[in-house]
Amino acid sequence: MSKDVKKVVLAYSGGLDTSVILRWLQESYGCEVVTFTADLGQGEEIETARAKAEKMGIEEIHVEDLREEFVGDYVFPMFRANALYEGVYLLGTAIARPLIAKRQIEIAHATGADAVAHGATGKGNDQVRFELAYTALDPDIRVIAPWREWDLTSRSKLIDYAAAHDIDVPSDKSGEPPYSIDANLVHISYEGKALEDPWVEPEEAMFTRTVAPEDAPDRPTYVEIGFEAGDAVAIDGESLSPARMLARLNDLGGANGIGRADIVENRFVGMKSRGVYETPGGTLLIAAHRAVESITLDRGAAHLKDELMPRYAELVYNGFWFSPEREMIQAAIDDSQKHVTGTVRLKLYKGSVAITGRKSPVSLYDQALATFEADTVYDQRDAEGFIKLNALRLRLMKKRRG
Ligand code: ARG
Repeated sequence: MSKDVKKVVLAYSGGLDTSVILRWLQESYGCEVVTFTADLGQGEEIETARAKAEKMGIEEIHVEDLREEFVGDYVFPMFRANALYEGVYLLGTAIARPLIAKRQIEIAHATGADAVAHGATGKGNDQVRFELAYTALDPDIRVIAPWREWDLTSRSKLIDYAAAHDIDVPSDKSGEPPYSIDANLVHISYEGKALEDPWVEPEEAMFTRTVAPEDAPDRPTYVEIGFEAGDAVAIDGESLSPARMLARLNDLGGANGIGRADIVENRFVGMKSRGVYETPGGTLLIAAHRAVESITLDRGAAHLKDELMPRYAELVYNGFWFSPEREMIQAAIDDSQKHVTGTVRLKLYKGSVAITGRKSPVSLYDQALATFEADTVYDQRDAEGFIKLNALRLRLMKKRRG
């Protein structure tokens, strides 16, 4: 590949891997590097990335708090769909990539860069997600994926390179490789190491966002979530911005041992991979959102939404956020949410979330219709013809079979 690159915008975390990438880009491409570091709620101080980039001689350093945009424009739209990949994965990593890619492209345009680079390996989904998004937003941008190009193929080679290039190696990283971790406001994920054997239970010390269910409080916690047009807007009557809402729900779920998932998933690139996820707030949100939908959505709309959901989740997982078909499904989902307004009561207890109440000013639930008591609005004799006509073809089938 041609090494003719002037300036590259690197998605830079400040960690060992992306620091090595930074130096490697300067050395092997002889190009200027612009760093971009985003706070997506990963729980690390992003300003340390600025200090590290400065120390490495970088002149154009972009450090941004994107938490509200992330939750408001990406996470919440996805939760409106109740999106779960393969029935269990809440897509915490997948949903963050399009926003990072979008900002990289915008920064490239603003700084006159002709390339973008990321630190995802050649075996995972993240390279696909970054690069599909880059291409959708700027088909002419040059993409550099160092992990697919360089010969730093082992942990020890990476560490030797860092040592030879005056890059700090955190002491805990010099030995055994750590879990491959990705964190943001939605989740923290763990892959690799002992988890590579799908039969091995993760060590308790690995978990950071949830207490073990058995260590959670012996008394339940009740919480009320208010929704407006499909989005969570208030907790126990207090209005919260999207990012604050998710942070608060993470605390509540985490303290009650809710939101752990131990999964073997099918990666887009073909292999099966075992991952463990902590998604406390998202787990509460999906349960609560489904509950408010249960009283505010029409049956036909609700069932169609549920049919579209696996398709939508797969698009997000595979990295097709910026695609016409994701946008089409999103438009249908968003349209369905106009009346998804109301309040849900949840009971959190030792790893479980139970719905104990739901109400809405625009509810379709009609107690007069549903009641077991005598009523005047529903004529039970109508049910006879309804069943008879529905049974007509079953009658014909049975007759033929004899
Ligand atoms: N398997 C998950 C996914 O594809 C998590 C990936 C985590 N990424 C990482 N760089 N550790 O969405």
